[in-house]
Amino acid sequence: MSGTRKLHIKSFGCQMNVYDSQRMTDTMAREGYAEAAAPDDADLIVLNTCHIREKAAEKVYSELGRIRRLKEDAARDGRKVIVAVAGCVAQAEGEEIIRRAPVVDLVLGPQNYHRLPDLVTRAARDGKIVDTEFPVEDKFAHLAPASRAATRARGVTAFVTVQEGCDKFCTFCVVPYTRGAEVSRPVAQIVDEVARLADAGVREVTLIGQNVNAYHGEGPDGAWPLARLLHRVAQVPGIARLRYATSHPRDMSDDLVAAHRDLPALMPQLHLPVQSGSDRILAVMNRRHTRADYLDVIARLKDARPDMAFSSDFIVGSPGETEADFAATLAIVGEVGYAGAFSFKYSPRPGTPAAERDDQVDEAAKVERLARLQAEIDRNQAAFNARCVGRSFDVLFEKPGRLPGQLVGRSPYLQPVNVMAPASLIGELAAVTITRAGPNSLFGELAHPAPHRVAAPELARLETTLET
Ligand code: 5AD
Ligand code: SF4
Repeated sequence: MSGTRKLHIKSFGCQMNVYDSQRMTDTMAREGYAEAAAPDDADLIVLNTCHIREKAAEKVYSELGRIRRLKEDAARDGRKVIVAVAGCVAQAEGEEIIRRAPVVDLVLGPQNYHRLPDLVTRAARDGKIVDTEFPVEDKFAHLAPASRAATRARGVTAFVTVQEGCDKFCTFCVVPYTRGAEVSRPVAQIVDEVARLADAGVREVTLIGQNVNAYHGEGPDGAWPLARLLHRVAQVPGIARLRYATSHPRDMSDDLVAAHRDLPALMPQLHLPVQSGSDRILAVMNRRHTRADYLDVIARLKDARPDMAFSSDFIVGSPGETEADFAATLAIVGEVGYAGAFSFKYSPRPGTPAAERDDQVDEAAKVERLARLQAEIDRNQAAFNARCVGRSFDVLFEKPGRLPGQLVGRSPYLQPVNVMAPASLIGELAAVTITRAGPNSLFGELAHPAPHRVAAPELARLETTLET
């Protein structure tokens, strides 16, 4: 090997891309590539792209403009840089990317990341390559696991992809085309990966998939649903908290709802996108559920776990959306009382049925509705945060805070919580009483300042003292 080479990966879009970027980094580490924080002196630059909205897809081309200059500078110094475009734009646009941006040497789709080492070697030797096939082999079985050191550097929370692709075909969405049909990873592979992460200090795992609650991976006795997988993963020593994202309302089965009641490690927070509050628009979107169906799912979850909180995604200005449809969306925000939500202007995507419709909403209406919706979401989020003041809950401490002596952790509801606490609590859960709420984060005090952990023999002595 000719010394250490450097790899820079830039990730756009969703958590699945963040996870994939890590696995590409791990796989290239095995080939002698060290991770570089900046692209400047990298030998291999990978853009892991997102195609969900036009804006996301366009980012890749502006980034490639900058990279072209870097590559030209490197060439003047006699250094060859390989530029790869991965992810959903790669899958959707294929060789069109190289036509539009000749700086690109390699285009690879999300199902081909295990071939990255080989593709890089071939691109360096033979020139341009496009690989967007859906291969028969399982990429996850061939991607390298993270080293202990890499996992530690990534912190005490981790994502694990358990499911990819989507069979739902919402009329606005490119995912079924870019990520393909639903595929679930086998249970044993996931449990092994979580055990490795836990062994390196990870305490909280989020199982992710484009349609994660449709999970049906192969278990030792047939296909397992997500609820059963969650119960199994909760048994991995060291795992204190579990989450899963993103879910479709149609796939919130009774056993999954019950898991929220029965599994203490499963956090009382769920990202459950509704997209619109209007039945007419939900039908046009092919969501296969009504507003009432959605509210019923929320009610079932609250029955199972009364302290449950929700977040959502919304699209404004879908084809045919009237002011009355939009009013129904605004109304559902208050009705659910979301702890947070993402909202987007509808963006027509090539090849999707909604993009073909002739009742597109004009841009000015989209801009105006987005602002009103965001204000309503902000109000609900602020109210939710304010309701947390005076409550006490476990915080998983992740890193030092902005002030000396301060740590930042996450509440069960994913809010960042700032607390004066010793650095030894990083990676630990501790009870915190919330004293103040900001718009996006909370402030609190340790409910039991030192001594934090009481060893078993000491505890016995303490109890005796209390009894006498
Ligand atoms: N336009 C705008 N937003 C979209 N989303 C998906 N497709 C589109 C589109 N064409 C949003 C949905 C989804 C989130 C990840 O992105 O709200 O839940
Ligand atoms: Fe973007 Fe969807 Fe691809 Fe994630 S799966 S990167 S959100 S297009």
